[in-house]
Amino acid sequence: MNEPLKKPRFFATRGHLMLCHNTSCRQKGADLLHLALTRHLEQEHLMYYKSGGSVRYTLSGCLGACSHGPVMACYRQTAQGLEQGWYFGMTLPLALQVARSIQQQTPLPGEHRFDL
Ligand code: FES
Repeated sequence: MNEPLKKPRFFATRGHLMLCHNTSCRQKGADLLHLALTRHLEQEHLMYYKSGGSVRYTLSGCLGACSHGPVMACYRQTAQGLEQGWYFGMTLPLALQVARSIQQQTPLPGEHRFDL
């Protein structure tokens, strides 16, 4: 007899950050960026599963700008609607700036954005 499915814990977040983990971005350093970013997000308590954290960070498939990686995208809900930021040539300092902007609900950095 099957037991009823248990509902997972839900973590409220202020935004979702995604790093492309497809071939071209990995060749441009996405693996190392992912490891370093995960560590820093945890240390700064930005990661959604840490106390006080509100940034949901995941890897993603191709984000469609393969020649310009590592590519990162973020989404968050604002009073004006759904906001998105798309970044090429992502670095650890810039990824942390984006994450802090999500956490602090301040404007997203404009550097390296290709959606503007
Ligand atoms: S491989 Fe990263 S954007 Fe396509």
